[in-house]
Amino acid sequence: MEIRVEKGKPEKYPCELLLLFSFECPEQPEGPIQTVDMEWKGFISALMKQGDFKGELFETRLFYTQGALPAKRVVLGGLGKKGEFDLEKWRGAASKAGQFIRNAGMKRFAFPIRKWSDLSEAELAESFVTGLRLGVYEFNEFKTLERDKIKEIEEVVLLGEKDEEIKIIGDGLRKGEIISEAVCMARDLVNGPSNQVTPTVLAEKAREIAKVYGMEVQVLELSQAEAIGMGAFVAVAKGSQEPGKFIVLEYNKGKELETIALVGKGITFDSGGISIKPSENMDRMKDDMSGAAAVLATMQAASRLQLPFHLVGIMPATENLPSGKAYKPGDILKTLSGQTVEVISTDAEGRLILSDALTYSLRYQPKAIIDLATLTGACVIALGNYVIGLFGNDESLLKRIEEASSRTGEKAWRLPLWDDYFDYLKSDTADFRNVGTRAAGAIIGAVFLNKFVEKVPWVHLDIAGPASIEKERPYIPRGGTGAGVRLLIQVLRDWGK
Ligand code: BES
Ligand code: MN
Ligand code: ZN
Repeated sequence: MEIRVEKGKPEKYPCELLLLFSFECPEQPEGPIQTVDMEWKGFISALMKQGDFKGELFETRLFYTQGALPAKRVVLGGLGKKGEFDLEKWRGAASKAGQFIRNAGMKRFAFPIRKWSDLSEAELAESFVTGLRLGVYEFNEFKTLERDKIKEIEEVVLLGEKDEEIKIIGDGLRKGEIISEAVCMARDLVNGPSNQVTPTVLAEKAREIAKVYGMEVQVLELSQAEAIGMGAFVAVAKGSQEPGKFIVLEYNKGKELETIALVGKGITFDSGGISIKPSENMDRMKDDMSGAAAVLATMQAASRLQLPFHLVGIMPATENLPSGKAYKPGDILKTLSGQTVEVISTDAEGRLILSDALTYSLRYQPKAIIDLATLTGACVIALGNYVIGLFGNDESLLKRIEEASSRTGEKAWRLPLWDDYFDYLKSDTADFRNVGTRAAGAIIGAVFLNKFVEKVPWVHLDIAGPASIEKERPYIPRGGTGAGVRLLIQVLRDWGK
């Protein structure tokens, strides 16, 4: 799908399809609909009066213009009640219109961007592109049958009227493209099965991104990780035949900019290890590298947007499998921090690889550390599939996340990190154990990670719920979602504001 900006008025623009939006039951047609309606001799206002199109949220209707307009067809999309309208609904409306147009087999359309609500043209353009691209995303890479039945929109033209508007729209378009391409890349990696997306492939992907977007990359092999003392990461990785990779990607290395570390859990398949999981739904555990995918995607977008940071992306990548070489319950591991951990369950592997990754991130003396991980099933029980579990040791960093969360619609909800929970992690034989109780499982996971960040401002995002979903959402199809990517990019974009 190619999206570009052109100068033109919707009522004068010849095209196969013109897309227009309306709020629910407006007194008067508003925005671009108004001028098109006039040119169309009141057709749209008449059909709305008759109730043939109400403007309800996500409503979509197709009309033929029969020569009354230069456009052959018009699709009307509903935005719902004006007073309830926001960016999130707008992204959903763009997605739903895109899905409707695609499913009807139409390949190109034009859409006029003109300010008609509180939202600026830049916001309208960026979020339209984001909602549209994310909504029509499909993962078809491995489908070989009936490929000719795959429907795709090929071309979208955003219409602007004045030169300065065209510039603003073009800028919003570019940002929307960068952000949605990053999210879609993360989705591809998450949807890719573990026999395709191995730690080695993640490392290659990091190298490729580093090369294309001018970043530094370093991949520690298992032997190197072992040599520097990453006892926890190595313990998890050694049970698998697929070599583990400790991936470090750096953007703006050596520049005098604030350093932020992004740490992502990269378990390319989580069988549970010796503490093996039940086989039902085990296939979902290919998504256990969603944190790493989000870090990779955020780094790519940050570089393309030229955000003024020194970013360090740290992605410990490995499978978690049982074998004769696998680590076992009862084992005691020495982490990179020097602290020791008694393994109670080999299925609590995420916190182990993250503990070494968090310690490693301290080498860069970051101003802030943000980690993303599909860490606990308990977080899904607590918050469901739509909400990220949010933990942290620093109020202002937490607020940044919450603000970005409300802007992007990637909901995140705070859970406590009180020291009381640490009681559950006391061990008889080591500094602490890797598992507490089932109760408060998500919090206990976070409390464990907290032991590895010292006093650095840190936030932990448990994305176990939203990383992949069974039931589609307005602009998030089933499967891998790219959770956290838009949220992180927004945090970085708003940092200095
Ligand atoms: N990757 C899982 C967490 C998970 C579960 C993500 C379900 C998405 C859906 C993680 O490694 C894990 O197995 N966690 C255990 C922790 C427990 C052993 C303390 C869990 O949640 O059961
Ligand atoms: Mn696990
Ligand atoms: Zn896991």
